[in-house]
Amino acid sequence: MSNYEAEIKRRRTFAIISHPDAGKTTLTEKFLLYGGAIAQAGQVKGKKNTRAATSDWMEIEKQRGISVTSSVMQFQYEGFCINILDTPGHQDFSEDTYRTLMAADSAVMVIDAAKGVEAQTRKLFKVCAMRDIPIFTFINKMDREARDPFELCEELEHELGIDTYAMNWPIGCGKEFMGVYDRQNRKVIHFTSNTNARAATATQIEPDDPALAELIGAGKRDQLVDEIELLDGASCDFDLERVRHGKLSPVFFGSALTNFGVEPFLEEFLRMTTAPLPRTAGDEVIDSFDSDFSAFVFKIQANMNKAHRDRIAFMRVVSGKFEADKEVYHLQGGKKIRLSRPQQLMAAEREIIEEAYAGDIIGVFDPGIFSIGDTLCATGKKFQFDPIPTFAPEHFQRIRSIDTMKRKQFLKGVEQIAQEGAIQIFKTPYSGMEEVIVGVVGTLQFDVLEYRLRSEYNVELYKEGLPFEYLRWIVREDEDAPPLKEEDLLLPNDVKLVEDYKGNQLLLFASQWSIQWVTDRNKGLKLAEFGGAKF
Ligand code: G4P
Repeated sequence: MSNYEAEIKRRRTFAIISHPDAGKTTLTEKFLLYGGAIAQAGQVKGKKNTRAATSDWMEIEKQRGISVTSSVMQFQYEGFCINILDTPGHQDFSEDTYRTLMAADSAVMVIDAAKGVEAQTRKLFKVCAMRDIPIFTFINKMDREARDPFELCEELEHELGIDTYAMNWPIGCGKEFMGVYDRQNRKVIHFTSNTNARAATATQIEPDDPALAELIGAGKRDQLVDEIELLDGASCDFDLERVRHGKLSPVFFGSALTNFGVEPFLEEFLRMTTAPLPRTAGDEVIDSFDSDFSAFVFKIQANMNKAHRDRIAFMRVVSGKFEADKEVYHLQGGKKIRLSRPQQLMAAEREIIEEAYAGDIIGVFDPGIFSIGDTLCATGKKFQFDPIPTFAPEHFQRIRSIDTMKRKQFLKGVEQIAQEGAIQIFKTPYSGMEEVIVGVVGTLQFDVLEYRLRSEYNVELYKEGLPFEYLRWIVREDEDAPPLKEEDLLLPNDVKLVEDYKGNQLLLFASQWSIQWVTDRNKGLKLAEFGGAKF
């Protein structure tokens, strides 16, 4: 095996998804700790808090003390080279969060054991499920009062529509969380230490060992034996192929904060997940082990340094090896280019790199030539990766420049920011050039838009909130058919027909109920939840 094949083979690129507060940061931090990428717990969080003082990213971030961007971290663990894609959770939830998932080959879903499946988990899960990538579940916070584990697994299956297979089973919860039963090895792992040590100390014991009752008490032992019997009888078989196709989620119980079950989870997860997956480009499949370099842009971050107005394009290397300053072909631009100043994030530090392999994420300086979804390949090659879908915004505003004389700057700014993928813009068939409907996935993007229009384009905004929460693309089978008009459709008052700047037609809805209403009453009308991509 060549060196570069070995490098690709040891790579694992995954996203961690969760609802805010489920413990994503804590779990990520423990992974980094095991990999030696950070020396002590609290560092990732610390970074988050101190960033306000050190970051040269936008003012808005400083003012709010939050991170506007999703970050990527690379670290080594037992021979694996691991790329973790973080999906920001709180107010900074944005379309970027969804797009980041396009760069992942699998996902770790963190669930709060007291809360179960929550809103943001549902949304992120849906995007992962659409690509059929493997999804591993970590049910966290077992050291606190938790819901019944059977009920939690049932909820995952019901709410998310994925089968589950409990890899381990918790013994008690809260103060009485004593360990887990490892189903594969048929051993009880009794946790004996709850310090800040690298991993909780565990003692392994067979479930039928009489000493087990002494360790965990006869009551807990009996309950465990009953539950194992129930599990073995009721659950589906473990099938790695189904895991790898996103049909079966292996479930692990543990506690990120107290290190219970984190390292076994990481090890099992790395064993089950795959090396970098191929990507499709029309009829071609680009395998990660192809010797020619290829990559696609999944995120563009503007204004990292205000003095230079620069942008960083984040790309996922799909195949081969990337070498700094080597010429590559930018398909959409139709030009050969050199990617300069490639960067990679190690834990939370940014550093310039010389090479990267399939599976890695690199950020390159973008003089304004890249768009989301762009393909880069070796010179002499010409293929285009399938587009990254457009995700439906959930918040809408009607905006225009307060000063009508600044209409041109306003439009230029709005279009530029939309091209970077931070916002989506729409118009109604009747609206003139001066007003635009903006849609965003997370409301912080409205503030980002306002801030950037003011500081970069000198435009003050008039904005008006719109009551819509859902958007669906109208699927036209016949591409040459004339655009639909509102009178062609049966629409209730709270539904609006709009179009995007590529001429696609869409409907905005104020409620799920209206989507159903419109679908029921307009036979033949096909609506899509994601725009611009095939799956
Ligand atoms: P997030 O990134 O998913 O938003 O969650 P994060 O890791 O920041 O965790 C949210 C809160 O839950 C934190 O407490 C964290 O310490 C706590 N937590 C995470 N994992 C566990 C666990 O396994 N058990 C228990 N008991 N708590 C857990 P906080 O008080 O909000 O923050 P901090 O002051 O501890 O940093």
